[in-house]
Parts: sequence; C-alpha cells; structure tokens
Amino acid sequence: MQRLLVEPPVGGVLVGSLLDAARFWTRILKEHALFIRLGLPADQVELRAEAQAFFDLFEELETRVNEVQSIDPGLLQDLIDAVNGIIAFKRRLLGLQVECKIAPCLYPLLVDHITREAVNFLNLLKDGAPEDPLDAILAIEVFWLRQMKEHIEFVRGLLDPSERLLIVETDAFSATFSRLLEEARDLASMNFQAQPDSFNTVTRFTDTALENLTRLRDFKAAAHELALLCQLLSIVSTPLLLDHIRREADRALVEIGALRELLDGGEE
Ligand SMILES: [Fe+2]
Ligand SMILES: [Fe+2]
Repeated sequence: MQRLLVEPPVGGVLVGSLLDAARFWTRILKEHALFIRLGLPADQVELRAEAQAFFDLFEELETRVNEVQSIDPGLLQDLIDAVNGIIAFKRRLLGLQVECKIAPCLYPLLVDHITREAVNFLNLLKDGAPEDPLDAILAIEVFWLRQMKEHIEFVRGLLDPSERLLIVETDAFSATFSRLLEEARDLASMNFQAQPDSFNTVTRFTDTALENLTRLRDFKAAAHELALLCQLLSIVSTPLLLDHIRREADRALVEIGALRELLDGGEE
C-alpha cells in the first residue's frame, strides 16, 4: 500500500488544497451562525448578537480565502482563532440546552452536529490527515456517514407530518445510512487492529457508500428545489439549510471519491 504524501497536509481532505477546504468550510460555518440566529428565540438578544457576530466574522474570512491564492501564516492563525471561537460558542449553546436554560428551535443534536463539523475543520487546519490511505478513507467515511445520517434525521423531523410519502423516503435513507455508518465503524476498527497492507472489502464498501451518497445528494437537491418553489410543507427556517446539506453531501462525495482512487493506486 502506497503512503500518501500530501503537500501541504490537508487533513481529512487529501484532495485539492487546504485553501479549497477553507473556502468550503468558511461558508459552511458562516451559515451555521445564521441557522443558530434564526433558531434562537427573540428574547435571547445577546446570544443572537453573538451568532450575528460569528456570521460577520466568517463572511469576512470567506471573502479573504476566496481572494488569495494560498493561505499564509497570518490567515491560518485568523482561521484557527475564528473556528476555536465558534466551537466555544456552539458548546456553550449546547450546554444551555441540555441544562434546559434555553429552548431554541434547534435540535440539541443539530448543535452537536455543527460543532463536530467545526472541530473537523479545526483539526484539518492544525494537524492534517492520516498519511495511510486506508486510515484516511475510513476516518473520513465514519465522519461523513455520521453527518449524512443525521442530516436525514433532521430533515425528517422538520417535515410537516402531512408530507407522508417524503417521510417514508427519509425513513429508508435513515435506515440505510445508520447501517453504512455502523459498517464503516466496524471496518475502521478492524483496520486499526490489523493494520493490513490491503483491505479490499473497504473498496467494495466505499463503492456502495458512494452510490448511496449520490442518491442522498439528489434527494437533498430535490428537497431544496421544492422548498424554493414553495412546494414543501415544513418548519425548515430557510431553504438554504437544504442547499447547505446538499453541498456537504457533494463535499463528502469528492473527498471519499478521491481517496477511493488512491486505494486503487495502492493495490496495483
Ligand atoms: Fe453544516
Ligand atoms: Fe452537516
């Protein structure tokens, strides 16, 4: 199995550059701040203002990463500081929720979910990715399959109860992605224990995961379209949420797909 040499280290990505990842994640984190603000009750003036300040901060960083050709140390530090800041904010929010001190229109699991995404970006900025392709692909599959499983659970919970056929579809996706996640965790555990030179089942599993991810991405895109056309009954705060989770599915497809090709290279 070949070892990956990635320059610069682009943790959990191994595709494109750190700049490419920063362009993706700054927009995502900016939108998280928006979703938080929209979900907070009107009387939570300070928390809403904090959420808005994070929106502004990530909007500014998004502009910066889109204008530069590489990430210099100053920009890297600004990104790390901002991501650390929003992680602390999300964790504080989640703490207030589980202690029943606030009751926003945000699932606690959603706040946990978006905290995990920020931590993933922070790790990527600070540490880079595992060098071994098997370690890298399994880590990224466990991460993204968990996020995808939760996306469909959130969508199911936001649909109006009358959207009965769509709810049946989300239940099917939910069952599939729960099993895919469990299988990815099993394979990651075996890979960790055995450290094999090759593990062809991971390749087969990855192909199945990619097929299902593509179907889920298409479902999210269709749901976004319906929301834009006002043809969907739900309590989704903005159709942007559906586009957001579609973009994350596309990112998962790109990252897992690129590593899948590297596994092929390693087997020859
Ligand atoms: Fe997200
Ligand atoms: Fe997500």
